[in-house]
Amino acid sequence: MKAVTVIPRQAGSTTLRDVPEPSLDDIPGGRGVQVRILRVGLDGTDKEIAAGEYGVAPDGFDFLIQGHESLGVVEQAGAAVTDFASGDLVVSRVRRAGTSLYDQIDMPDMTTDDAYFEHGISRVHGFLTERYVEDARYLIHMPAGLREVGVLLEPTSIVEKGITQAYEISRRLKVWEPRRAAVLGAGTIGLLATMALRVRGLDVVAIGLDQPPYLNSELVEAIGARYASTKQESLEQIAAPDAGGRFDLVFECTGFSPLVFEGVPTLLAKNGVMVLSSVTGGSRTVEVPSDAINLDMVLGNKVIVGTVNANREHFEAGVRDLALCEDRWPGWLDRLLTHPVSGLDEWEKAFQLLGAPGVIKVFIEVAPLP
Ligand code: BGC
Ligand code: ZN
Repeated sequence: MKAVTVIPRQAGSTTLRDVPEPSLDDIPGGRGVQVRILRVGLDGTDKEIAAGEYGVAPDGFDFLIQGHESLGVVEQAGAAVTDFASGDLVVSRVRRAGTSLYDQIDMPDMTTDDAYFEHGISRVHGFLTERYVEDARYLIHMPAGLREVGVLLEPTSIVEKGITQAYEISRRLKVWEPRRAAVLGAGTIGLLATMALRVRGLDVVAIGLDQPPYLNSELVEAIGARYASTKQESLEQIAAPDAGGRFDLVFECTGFSPLVFEGVPTLLAKNGVMVLSSVTGGSRTVEVPSDAINLDMVLGNKVIVGTVNANREHFEAGVRDLALCEDRWPGWLDRLLTHPVSGLDEWEKAFQLLGAPGVIKVFIEVAPLP
């Protein structure tokens, strides 16, 4: 079968090649599920891997099949699988369990292992191919009614985990009723975070660089949030008392790390939580007013938390929010799917689109939806 592969840490080594078909026996105990891939979304991580900046090949291979955002359909399942049957739509979690305590309790997203396993990223082949076989425990059911937008589940799971972290941490307050949230960044993750926070009833300001109106600012407004451009307003102005004040929850997903240090004293309310989700592989440095930031965090009981990946509960929360979003704002999720690319053969075109103006989600249609 065909697969889009890369030799990790070798820029420009991405190519289409023939790889062996997977087999149900690859997973012990009859727990394997064979899935035909329908759609694969691409993001900045895939771009970095293709650029040779990130990624690890599986043991015994010099290449890695790329792609971690998937939607597929079950073809067959092993004898011990009771929860999936042929024809079911599924999305695979990205991480497989390693060895730490957290991996053992099905929280590989919280692994303390240095060498972790992520489909299409680190040590496990990904989904830019025709089929995969995975242990049933890593698969999530996608309702057929969400088939058109199901490829958005993996990025939604990232957002769900981040928001869940903020709520879990805030149990320390006994009562936490966040009213206002700011989302730093208005790309795919920023838009999905805005959506998930709006579904929870928060008043949301999505903060981006570009001046409105453009597609992303229109999408923010279409779900009852406000869009603010940092070209038109400073963070202080966005959080000014007459603009509604500071934010109980700040979700950072711009990829521009200096904003973290600027955002804490300007945007974050007392007892607030700032969630960091940008995977910044670069080496940017910046000088910060450390005494002022430290004082503000101490006197305000503020929290900054990093978040990566997602486990089953976050994927399931993502399914729920995608369904609620479709119900409340029909067609909104579909507008995020700006750039479909037809077939694995067109992989080059798909990678070129990443980060181009007007692009929200690029995805490859590997096979037609059933
Ligand atoms: C993926 C996550 C992964 C992270 C770090 C992201 O693009 O969506 O699942 O944990 O990269 O590798
Ligand atoms: Zn990703």
